[in-house]
Amino acid sequence: MIQVSTSVLDLSEKDCVHSFYNLETAKTDYFHIDVMDGEFVENDTSKRMLEYATTISHISQLGLDVHLMVNEPEKFIDDYVGLEPRILSFQVEPVLQDKQRIYDMIDDLKRNGIRVGLAINPGTSIEAIKEFLPYVHMVLVMSVWAGRGGQSFIPEIASKLKELKQYLDENDLDLDIEVDGGINNETAKIAVENGANILVSGSYILGADDPKSAISRLKDCL
Ligand code: DX5
Ligand code: ZN
Repeated sequence: MIQVSTSVLDLSEKDCVHSFYNLETAKTDYFHIDVMDGEFVENDTSKRMLEYATTISHISQLGLDVHLMVNEPEKFIDDYVGLEPRILSFQVEPVLQDKQRIYDMIDDLKRNGIRVGLAINPGTSIEAIKEFLPYVHMVLVMSVWAGRGGQSFIPEIASKLKELKQYLDENDLDLDIEVDGGINNETAKIAVENGANILVSGSYILGADDPKSAISRLKDCL
């Protein structure tokens, strides 16, 4: 079953509570929270995303799907643990040199009952994260470079998704594969055909006249 996680990155603060209700009615499966620190990526969304996530946790039963694009994930994990997100993923690039840090964060999140995802930018190989895969629940494959919404899906990501899916199947690893960036009804099909089962989408859903049909088009993209 394909699930949809709506990115609230580009949702305006004005009337945001109303927008969150509408997205829930439109049957999003998760709210995707894009946390940027102004260091790992240029934008800094950290304050607004924590406000959004806090509000959503008060008004909705749906899961938070937190995506950290930050140099020091530990600091932000502390902020989010109390909101009990369903999934928390962090970009591995800033911490890849210190494997123990990655294992410590995985343990910390799991101790708190939070599903763990490893997020990889287009330039990071599957090889680089293989050793951690038996210990996590999801891989978040970026199909644009982390940093902002509204970019175009990078077609070469299809073969990366396929490689990941094949590796997981061969090693009996039952992980979710989430794809994030430039997802619309056409790119969703490419992503799902190559193994993704959770689709993150921001501009395609938020910019649609009818977000409910946009979400159902993504879920039924095959
Ligand atoms: C990019 C973010 C994505 C992105 C999704 O850094 O991680 O979640 O905003 O937005 P669209 O669907 O517009 O690419
Ligand atoms: Zn994201």
